[in-house]
Amino acid sequence: MTVPILECRGIAKSFGGFAAASGIDLAVEEGAMVGVIGSNGAGKTTLLNIVSGHLKPSKGKVFFRGEDVTGMPSRRLARRGIARSFQVPQLFASATALDNMMMALSLLARPRGEILSRFGDRALEAEAHAALVEYGIDDTATSLVSELPQGTRKLLDIAMATAAEPSLVLLDEPTSGVSNEEKNEVMERLAARFRAHGTTVVFIEHDMDIVERYATRVVALTDGTVIADGTPQEVFAHDQVARVIIGAPVPGRVTEGASGGASGGAMTASGGAAGSPPSPGSAANEPSPTRAAGAPAAQPVSGGGDALTPSPGRAVNANASGGAS
Ligand SMILES: Nc1ncnc2c1ncn2[C@@H]1O[C@H](COP(=O)(O)OP(=O)(O)O)[C@@H](O)[C@H]1O
Ligand SMILES: [Mg+2]
Repeated sequence: MTVPILECRGIAKSFGGFAAASGIDLAVEEGAMVGVIGSNGAGKTTLLNIVSGHLKPSKGKVFFRGEDVTGMPSRRLARRGIARSFQVPQLFASATALDNMMMALSLLARPRGEILSRFGDRALEAEAHAALVEYGIDDTATSLVSELPQGTRKLLDIAMATAAEPSLVLLDEPTSGVSNEEKNEVMERLAARFRAHGTTVVFIEHDMDIVERYATRVVALTDGTVIADGTPQEVFAHDQVARVIIGAPVPGRVTEGASGGASGGAMTASGGAAGSPPSPGSAANEPSPTRAAGAPAAQPVSGGGDALTPSPGRAVNANASGGAS
């Protein structure tokens, strides 16, 4: 058997006395598109944070291509090929899509002092444009981020996070806050782009239709533990998954073309967004974003266009990432 690109062995993480992750075992084969499902607070983001180096596990090991990378900081992991996106896009709202992309690229190539000198650099602009083309959002190049629909912002955010051409991409709810109409297009573009590059993807998703359509494999978490792992069909048929994750009622569910509350309650089978407030922890565990190879501490854009309720999470996130608001 070939070495998995990612392996987690016995990952545990406690906050105070509370176990957000307790003994997660996971092996991801190269080229897979793994959907991570689980109710609010199940430990999904915590798992991603540990793999991306934004959190250190209390116990357990993370292996990347067979090498122990446990506790390695996110910047070093980014240089090795692990990138991630956050639930709330980390973008400069008052700049254009192209300028945002150029910023991400210039941060990769140059030390900080030279970043701005690359603006006006034609080669950089061409590179940024090509990156937007890859995600099918080049038509928005000259639009201000604040004017873009949430789905396009998500794609731009992911395009920026993956500017360093990572081999493993971790996406925290790529369709949260995205309208039902836009969701499939967002996922279609991501899947096509990552397939074309042979990129391995682990994505957290609440919409079971999306999971079924795009995940080659599904991992279900409850109380910080993997309760099912297999094909979408296998995992959906699992008794506890059906009862606890898929079947649970969704409080305050919005059904029509709504943009989602970012961290929904239980899963929605038809893509309706859940309006329940996120648990306190989901605020604190979204660390200040360190992009692939150290991208900009940008101003998170979570407003305009979507109906997200301000939550403690967003406030913390905005402060932590130094966004002037
Ligand atoms: N930094 C933190 N401090 C305290 N509790 C946290 C922290 N991060 C997460 N938690 C708690 O850990 C549990 C799992 O959180 P999280 O991984 O964000 O869940 P999910 O992404 O599945 O919704 C939740 O109960 C959350 O409140
Ligand atoms: Mg989460």
